[in-house]
Amino acid sequence: MRLLAVLGSLLLPVLANAQYQMVKEYIGDSFFDDWAFYNNNDNLTNGNAFFVSAKEASQDKLAFVNDAGNAIMKVDNTSNLNFNDNRNTIRITSTDRFTVGSLWIADMLHVPYGCSVWPAWWSSAPNWPAGGEIDTLEGVNQVTMSHMALHTAPGCVQSNTSVETSTLVNTTDCSTLANNNEGCTVTTPGASYGPAFAAAGGGVFVTEFASKGISIWFFNRTSLPQSLQGNASTVDTSTLGTPTGNWPSDGCNINSFFEPQQLVFDITLCGDFAGTASIFQQTCTGICYDDWVLGSPSNYDTAYFEVQYVRVYGQPGELTVIPSGGVRSAGTAAVFTVLVAVVAAVTLAW
Ligand SMILES: *[C@@H]1O[C@H](CO)[C@@H](O)[C@H](O)[C@H]1NC(C)=O
Ligand SMILES: *[C@@H]1O[C@H](CO)[C@@H](O)[C@H](O)[C@H]1NC(C)=O
Ligand SMILES: *[C@@H]1O[C@H](CO)[C@@H](O)[C@H](O)[C@H]1NC(C)=O
Ligand SMILES: *[C@@H]1O[C@H](CO)[C@@H](O)[C@H](O)[C@H]1NC(C)=O
Ligand SMILES: *[C@@H]1O[C@H](CO)[C@@H](O)[C@H](O)[C@H]1NC(C)=O
Ligand SMILES: *[C@@H]1O[C@H](CO)[C@@H](O)[C@H](O)[C@H]1NC(C)=O
Repeated sequence: MRLLAVLGSLLLPVLANAQYQMVKEYIGDSFFDDWAFYNNNDNLTNGNAFFVSAKEASQDKLAFVNDAGNAIMKVDNTSNLNFNDNRNTIRITSTDRFTVGSLWIADMLHVPYGCSVWPAWWSSAPNWPAGGEIDTLEGVNQVTMSHMALHTAPGCVQSNTSVETSTLVNTTDCSTLANNNEGCTVTTPGASYGPAFAAAGGGVFVTEFASKGISIWFFNRTSLPQSLQGNASTVDTSTLGTPTGNWPSDGCNINSFFEPQQLVFDITLCGDFAGTASIFQQTCTGICYDDWVLGSPSNYDTAYFEVQYVRVYGQPGELTVIPSGGVRSAGTAAVFTVLVAVVAAVTLAW
């Protein structure tokens, strides 16, 4: 039955209305297996953070799997720092890349927050900004809602044909050269960040990276659709309702502004966004580095991600995963045959 079902869906034309099959799962004790740890200062966004190596993250329990089986990624909340020191935290990037025609889901119980804290769950192409960036969740300091955004080369905008539930549109030009690289930003309404997110039992973010456009859904724990409960091995986006944020291809040609994406979790401190005085002062007092990064480490007790899983899906019949160092093969008959053989072998092995 399963074999027939899988083969059947492979043979369908790819017009299939946004039906996706799981291709990769980051969960439980193997959650951290296929990510690269940055192991350097934040030389990307000028944060007062040192992103530790995998070894250090494990030793210092900055990245680990807790007793509940969830992945924790956190800021050091035990060390007192000397002036000029950076605080240890994490930045991890998936070793696989995922092409247009992918969808990813992150189920989180807690996201990092607090003065100076700037976390994100996002993706980008190694070739930035030409290969594009998709921010699914980003927040700073003590804001109460997270936001979503795209960052691209000039020429990509959120068009007015967008169909999305959020009415909080901040900016529509996705170019990194516009509005100080704010991206085309949509604020995520509801308990999408901070203490309210945690108090509501967290939520689930779904990111669809499709040639017809990019869409992001945010569901709190009680609004999670039936189709995403349990270990959904397939996702049909028609069961998810209207997305929270939507960037249709008529304003941004996804195939030309985006290349295969690597998934990223990071938490930096202060830096270009959280530390900008006008932004910082909206929700915090004092000086970002002096008063918070150098201050009591207990400021960082809430600066952690707790993630139940990340799942990545691809459109059936398409090769959407590019393994570390690998190159995606063209969709030739030979590749198709190999794929069918692999699927058949895997299916028979179940
Ligand atoms: C950041 O530092 C790493 C390690 O030294 C280096 O490989 C990378 O090129 C640097 N990136 C930037 C943007 O400076
Ligand atoms: C959408 O934008 C296009 C191009 O700028 C414009 O011609 C059209 O009037 C706009 N439609 C609406 C409903 O605002
Ligand atoms: C975006 O707009 C919302 C609603 O007006 C506001 O609360 C938020 O601070 C803005 N976010 C950014 C990053 O400008
Ligand atoms: C969860 O989402 C639903 C639907 O958007 C909303 O009615 C409800 O108030 C939300 N709950 C919380 C705690 O935000
Ligand atoms: C979902 O998958 C996890 C990890 O593989 C497993 O522990 C759990 O029992 C599964 N749950 C269901 C409802 O199948
Ligand atoms: C650090 O924060 C964690 C929660 O992330 C908390 O369980 C722990 O008690 C804190 N450690 C210290 C020394 O305060």
